[in-house]
Amino acid sequence: MTYVVTDACIRCKYMDCVEVCPVDCFYEGENILVINPSECIDCGVCEPECPAEAILPDTEPGLEKWLELNATYSAQWPNITQSREAPADADEFKGVPGKFEQYFSPNPGKGD
Ligand code: SF4
Ligand code: F3S
Repeated sequence: MTYVVTDACIRCKYMDCVEVCPVDCFYEGENILVINPSECIDCGVCEPECPAEAILPDTEPGLEKWLELNATYSAQWPNITQSREAPADADEFKGVPGKFEQYFSPNPGKGD
């Protein structure tokens, strides 16, 4: 089991999750973070920290796509262990449906 970052993170990227992870297993894309499933220890502390409710345990149904996406991109993107400011327009994208189809970027973020 692992926790995964889902669609709700895209273009919100609040980064509150980064500070609390005891094993530093978040990786940064241009407009979303992902979790490395093989590093996550399932502690669950990041889930309630996310203002966008983007983090879910993979035991919830229908998250196969997100588990695969987290695994794929955590192997390609830089590790991030320190939060930075969220994008200035983050709140405008909070709760917006269909963000993956419209906005997902495979480009890496800056990392630490
Ligand atoms: Fe890190 Fe725990 Fe969240 Fe996994 S569940 S990403 S170990 S804070
Ligand atoms: Fe994304 Fe939530 Fe973290 S919006 S960056 S998963 S706090």
